Amino acid sequence: MAVDLLLGLQWGDEGKGKIVDVLTSKYNIIARFQGGPNAGHTLVFNGMTHVLHTIPSGIFHDDAINLVGNGVVIDPVIFKRELDKLDEQKVDYTSKLIISRKAHLILPTHRLLDAASETAKGKAKIGSTLKGIGPTYMDKTGRNGIRVGDVELKGWKNRYRNLANKHEAMIDFHNVDIQYDLDELEIEFFEAVELLKSLQFVDSEEYIFQAMKNNKSILAEGAQGSLLDIDFGTYPFVTSSNTTAAGACTGLGIAPNKIGDVFGIFKAYTTRVGSGPFPTELFDKDGETMGRVGHEFGATTGRARRCGWLDLVALRYACQINGVTQLMMMKADVLSGFKTIKVCTAYNYKGESISHLPFNIEKQNVSPIYTEMKGWAEDLTSMDQASQLPQELNAYIDFLEKELDIPITIVSVGPDRKQTIFRS
Ligand code: IMP
Repeated sequence: MAVDLLLGLQWGDEGKGKIVDVLTSKYNIIARFQGGPNAGHTLVFNGMTHVLHTIPSGIFHDDAINLVGNGVVIDPVIFKRELDKLDEQKVDYTSKLIISRKAHLILPTHRLLDAASETAKGKAKIGSTLKGIGPTYMDKTGRNGIRVGDVELKGWKNRYRNLANKHEAMIDFHNVDIQYDLDELEIEFFEAVELLKSLQFVDSEEYIFQAMKNNKSILAEGAQGSLLDIDFGTYPFVTSSNTTAAGACTGLGIAPNKIGDVFGIFKAYTTRVGSGPFPTELFDKDGETMGRVGHEFGATTGRARRCGWLDLVALRYACQINGVTQLMMMKADVLSGFKTIKVCTAYNYKGESISHLPFNIEKQNVSPIYTEMKGWAEDLTSMDQASQLPQELNAYIDFLEKELDIPITIVSVGPDRKQTIFRS
């Protein structure tokens, strides 16, 4: 059976966690393939809000197996906190959470190094979540990393020590004021590693292969968004993994010809957190309204997100790179009350109108060209049928479907599982 993918098409925070949760009942296995605790996947149901960082978003369903794939980077300390929360909520994860032996570990010094590197960059900083993501992926590609499977081997603590010593020298090199007590951080780290060891480790590519052979349905869950992809995002203001469809192949060991549907998740407008170009960003009342009504604050860092109109140039690019087969539009309810809705359909690039994403989308090169549409006044949050959607919203959806040539099959009208409208 083919593996379906679910990916964010913008700069992250599209609402992937909610949709994975909504779709989980259709799948046997939910598998995270990249990123780490820089992600914050928010799920709302039965009056409770849950935020997951590393654990796949199918964990609240009784029957789904949740796999943390080889492409993910795991901070045992944050992972332990996530498990503690599940314990508090009496969610039994022991038989349904499995971890790839090939996933890399985030060490305490990776986090410190992230902070030192960002501080040293000054105004040019990426706006990292400071979870140690960049330094951990650097050690992975530099062939120095420590993997989950390593902690089952004798002598791994010597390798840990050598790497941590090297990191401390690198922190010193940055010559910035980072205060830390590594002994204390290590007590917490090694304790958390012990808890991690009590979970089931698997050779995940073999696990996935056998599951496909046995006709199990699998949903690969992406983190962050396509515009934060290390290769195709707005480099250098990106994360350090492949957030796009190709990342699911390398992050789980799925052959490209085994990919089925690709679900692309996007917000009805655009947000971005951290630094980097954002052509449709708003600095006016409209942007402020989107942020306030949409509660646009990071689930991981609490930082206010930058807001702007939907950018179809960027969205088309993301659909192309990922081979999106179905689109899912989130937070349509946040646009209720706007007299007009703007959509960026092309860029003015150095005096020329272009409809593809160029190498450089910094403000000095690019300005958005908008199409304006009529807004709607109706509150959507209690609607549950496509037939209830206001005519102006349907016109907006039709316009997007035509421009992108991909059907929009879900419209989300609020954070709760129930606030999900399926379109045929
Ligand atoms: P890092 O991955 O923490 O190093 O952050 C690199 C960039 O990606 C920063 O601009 C972050 O704000 C952004 N970023 C990382 N993870 C997420 C996410 O889950 N949602 C939104 N932005 C993210």
